[in-house]
Amino acid sequence: MKERLQKLISRSGLMSRRQAEEKIRQGLVRIDERVATLGESADPQKEKVWVDGELLHFTTKTLTLMLNKPTGYICSMNDPQGRRLAIDLLPAAFGRLYSVGRLDYNTEGLLLLTNDGSLAQHLTHPSHHVSKTYLVKVRGALDGSASKKIESGIKLEDGVTAPASVSNVRISGKNCWFELTLREGRNRQVRRMCEAVGLPVVRLKRIALGGLCLEGLKSGMYRVLGDDELSDLKKMAGL
Ligand code: URA
Repeated sequence: MKERLQKLISRSGLMSRRQAEEKIRQGLVRIDERVATLGESADPQKEKVWVDGELLHFTTKTLTLMLNKPTGYICSMNDPQGRRLAIDLLPAAFGRLYSVGRLDYNTEGLLLLTNDGSLAQHLTHPSHHVSKTYLVKVRGALDGSASKKIESGIKLEDGVTAPASVSNVRISGKNCWFELTLREGRNRQVRRMCEAVGLPVVRLKRIALGGLCLEGLKSGMYRVLGDDELSDLKKMAGL
C-alpha cells in the first residue's frame, strides 16, 4: 500500500516526519533510482526508499500494546513546549506507534498504542462505540441527581453526551470517587461532564478500554497484547 514518503520514513524510526520532509526537499531521498519530491507516496512492499544513501527497512510485524501512562506525559509525537512524551516510555526499537485516542497531560492510565494505522483509526471511529472506563475523583459529592444527569446526557458546547454509566460511588471526606463508562471519546470529556454538574475532577485514570483492563500494570510500564486480546479488539473495531 502506498504511503506518504515522509510518513513512511518516520515509521522506519530513522527520523521524524518533519526531518524527513527536509531531506525530501534537499533532494536526498530516492525511490528506487529516482530522486523523490515532496508530496510523493511510495509502496514499501514494491519500492526501495533511500535516505542519504541508506536503504530503509520497514517492520511489517504489527505491534499493539497498552501503556499505563503516568500523569505529566503528553500523547503526541512531539511537543513544542518540551513536555515529556508518553511514547518516550517505550523502546525506540518499536518504531512509530499511533495512540488509540488520547489521555490529557494530567490523566493517567490505559493508553493503547499500535503500529496498525487501520486498527487505530477503526477503534477511535465514533460508530464503533468502544467503551472506556475511568476512575474519577472529584471535589464534592456525586449525588443521585448529578449521577442521573451524567448517565442520561449532558449538554456540552459540542453537543449532548451519549448515555454513560456510573458505578462504585464512594464518598471520602470532601471528595468522591466513582467509575464512569463512556462509549464516545471527545476532548476532555470526563472533566467537562463533571464540571457541568459542579464537580471539578482532581484525579482521572482510565482503567479499561473495550475488553482490556489496566489491572496489574504498574505506572509507566507497558505490555504487548496477546493474540486473543488483539483479535477481540479487531472484532470490536469491525475488522
Ligand atoms: N476525559 C478527559 O477529560 N480526559 C482524558 O484524558 C480522557 C477522558
